[in-house]
Amino acid sequence: MATQDWRVGNQICQILSSSGQKVVSLSYLCSETRAQPSEVRAALRKLGELGCPISHGREGYLLEPDAQLLEMDELTRNLRPGLVRWAITYFFYINSTQSAVRAMAERDAHEGTTVLAEMQSRGVGRLGRNWSSPYCGIWLSSLLRPRRTLENQLLTIAASLAITRAVSAVCGIKSELKWPNDVQIGGRKVAGVLGTSEYRGERLRSVAVGLGINANIDLNLLPGSFRDQATSLKAELGAKVDREQLIASALNNLSSLYAKLERAEEDEIVDEARKNCSTLGRRIQVRMGSRLLKGVAQDLDRDGSLILEVEEGRTVRLYSHDVSLLP
Ligand code: ATP
Ligand code: BTN
Repeated sequence: MATQDWRVGNQICQILSSSGQKVVSLSYLCSETRAQPSEVRAALRKLGELGCPISHGREGYLLEPDAQLLEMDELTRNLRPGLVRWAITYFFYINSTQSAVRAMAERDAHEGTTVLAEMQSRGVGRLGRNWSSPYCGIWLSSLLRPRRTLENQLLTIAASLAITRAVSAVCGIKSELKWPNDVQIGGRKVAGVLGTSEYRGERLRSVAVGLGINANIDLNLLPGSFRDQATSLKAELGAKVDREQLIASALNNLSSLYAKLERAEEDEIVDEARKNCSTLGRRIQVRMGSRLLKGVAQDLDRDGSLILEVEEGRTVRLYSHDVSLLP
């Protein structure tokens, strides 16, 4: 898909959602989006692949009545005042909320600027990996402007804790951190966090914190290559979760954990992370360039780094490395 094609898909969703139960013809979609029929059809196909419930009859297209799109009013009603003033821009479909927020950061957007989408065409994970973002997940990125220069790692850990707290409060499920940036349930990945820092010289100007949570996604929409290692909250609970409550709880917790970092209280955050980190005490393997290092994950340090014991008495400190748990 060409890089801008998400725009046509986003417009299509906008049109279908505002036409309620009225069927919309292909020619109307073409004239409103100023796109060729082939482009509109390609965008509709892509939306279908992502699980967006658009039905198609002889007369045209319809967003199914039980589509359950995010209710922004309900979400904002549940946000508590805190250090961060959240300002959320909602998209049906976007390439990546992370790249959108990074672009807004460059245009001096204020702290709390957040982009939230129902689906992403090019969700990004750590180390340039793809992040699958089908319909009914939670895909959002928020801009923070720390007053002190923080290790990216600490913010990633704080955001992962914000997710585990929200999952526990809203769904009653215990989830764990897999250092450095995953949230897992029973060893399967349910969420991931991406922190992208922007510096001017030595000074940290902003961090885009991306949260990807497999809330109500259909696991069959994930690629087979990692489907077995993933889960969703819906699959764990056997019922849909309230996404608005979950997002609000994650943002409320992120704001209070971030406030702790701003007050230099990282010890409390690292303590909470230690208690919830499934990596500690495990044998792990780490890729360092072309080398593979094996050892036991011993502890988290107060800057969020992982201390790995590679042989008795010899430790190595890890930052955002590629870590896999060994059996
Ligand atoms: P892992 O620990 O899962 O091997 P990682 O945490 O080192 O991966 P990341 O960069 O954090 O790697 O995450 C990206 C990886 O997560 C992708 O390569 C893919 O395997 C997996 N992934 C992508 N989308 C999803 C999703 N929606 N849910 C769960 N896992 C996903
Ligand atoms: C990872 O585990 O590698 C981190 C995944 C982070 C995914 C989120 S979804 C919202 C935001 N937009 C993106 O493109 N990526 C992050």
